[in-house]
Order: sequence, then structure tokens, then C-alpha cells
Amino acid sequence: MTHIRKAVFPVAGMGTRFLPATKSVPKEMLPLVDRPLIQYAVDEAREAGIEQFIFVSAAGKGALEDYFDTAAALENRLEAAGKKDALAALERARMPEGALTILRQANPLGLGHAVRQARQLIGNEPFAVLLPDDVIKGQPGALKQMVQAHAKVGGHMVATMDVPRAATSAYGVLDIASESGRIAYARGMVEKPRADVAPSTKAVIGRYILDAAIFDRLSALRPGAGGELQLTDAINADVPTVGVTGFSFEGERFDCGSVQGFVQATAAYALDRPELSGAFEMFLSNRLSRQQMAA
Ligand code: UTP
Repeated sequence: MTHIRKAVFPVAGMGTRFLPATKSVPKEMLPLVDRPLIQYAVDEAREAGIEQFIFVSAAGKGALEDYFDTAAALENRLEAAGKKDALAALERARMPEGALTILRQANPLGLGHAVRQARQLIGNEPFAVLLPDDVIKGQPGALKQMVQAHAKVGGHMVATMDVPRAATSAYGVLDIASESGRIAYARGMVEKPRADVAPSTKAVIGRYILDAAIFDRLSALRPGAGGELQLTDAINADVPTVGVTGFSFEGERFDCGSVQGFVQATAAYALDRPELSGAFEMFLSNRLSRQQMAA
């Protein structure tokens, strides 16, 4: 069984769906309840056994890079004031020495191009990719589930979720040869197919375990859907040689790159926090009944 030690976090996207907030705040720093999105992805990766965290960042993402840095002045003040809870909250954002590397994607040419930046750091071992704007509420986390499944099948593995046919044009979609439990063996993968030509309704969600062979494909990529260098196209090209499976994770996924998904995730995570849920539930039910009466 190959231990998956390294994970790539592509965080260089422009976040246009979340303007104007993302004009000056990186999308990955938007707080879901009281933690930035990136924290959820990093926690999920840690739980899955990841030891090396590689961020593919871009200009204007300084707040994201600072988040995992020490904040000596703040920590000293909290220490002096005896604010133990606040100090403990900062612990989550601490990385072991040497565990975090930040790369730059000079131009936002697409997800495939972002992942390609990590070639030298990954070397020749399978690795994970997590898109932090896809937040997956799972127990255990989606990546841990995938690491366990990947140990049995190898190759490239993508997280998948069934979506309504009308929604396929927003996702990469699997062409399925056969299925066994949570694993779908792919015959191919298409990026953003129209509903009438989509080969299935199994959509690819932002978690991947990739064989290092992907880097040769990424180097040869030509622009695909939307004129971007698409990771999906590189994975698809490896179907005959490396093999590609889809893994239907257990859990609830929120597209936190969209405002609707973010609002829903906020409600779901707040309702799950014991210190918030009581008052929040009451607020929501009062609000809903007022709205129903007004309708
Ligand atoms: P998205 O498709 O969500 O694009 O990227 P985006 O630019 O972040 O957001 P919108 O669509 O404009 O609102 C999916 C993932 O790929 C990363 C993003 O940071 C996100 O994690 N990405 C995308 C890059 O790192 N570089 C790119 O060139 C494109």
C-alpha cells in the first residue's frame, strides 16, 4: 500500500463568482462559520495522513499565505492576557516545520496548469489534490475515504457525486465502464458536457489522488473547455495507461465557490456546532415561519 504523503491545494483561481468579496480577500479565506475555507481542506488532508502541503498560489493571495504563518505579536498578547481558548484556536493554523510549500502560478491558465506547477515537489509518487472551495462534510473526511479505496485500486482516482442531468455542464463527468460498490471504473472523462451529450450524471468533485504519470500529460496539455488547461483532459488521456476510477464518497458537498453553496454550507456547519445550534435553529425557524405567513 502506497502512503499518500503529499497534497496540492490549487488556490490561484480568481474567484469571480464571489466578487466583490474576492476583490481583496482570497476566496479560500472566506470564513465558513469561524474558519477560513482553506482550514477545512487542510484538516481533511491531515486526517487522511498528508504530511506535505503544497499551495499553488498567485498574486494577491497574501492573506492566505500569512494565515499559516506564526503571528508572534498576537500570540504574545493572548498569552499575556491568559486567553487560552483564543490561543488554542490559533493552533489549527499551525503547520509542522517544513510541511508547507507555497508555489506561484504566474497566470491563471486553468486547474491543469496549476497542478503542473507542483511537478518538482511531487517527484515520482502518487499525491492528492484538494480544491478548497469544494467543502465536503464527511465522517471520516472524503480524502481519507479515498486514500483507503485507492490502496486497493491504484491509478488515478477522482471523487464523484451524482448530479441532476441539467447540471452536467458545470462539472467534469465520467464515462463509466463498470461499477463495484463506491468505485466506478471509467472509460473516459469529459469536462463540462452539455446535458444531452453527457456520458453519465457522475460528476467529478474537487478531490483527486493522482499517479505521478499525470505530469507528462499535463506538460502536453492544450487548452480545453473555456480555453483553460483542464486537469480533466489530462486524466482522461491516462485512462488506457494508468486507469481512472471515480469514488462516490459518503458525505455532503458544498460548492463554496458559489454564493448559494457558501450560504448553505454556513447553515449546515452552524447547525452542527453545539455552542451555536440552539439559538441559530430558533432564529431560522422563526424567520421561516414569518416568511411563510407573509407569503
Ligand atoms: P474555479 O473553477 O472555481 O475557478 O477553480 P476560480 O477562478 O477559482 O473561481 P471562479 O469560477 O472565477 O469564481 C477551481 C479550483 O482551481 C483553482 C482555483 O483556485 C480553485 O481551487 N485554479 C483554477 C487555479 O489554481 N488556477 C487556475 O488557473 C484556475
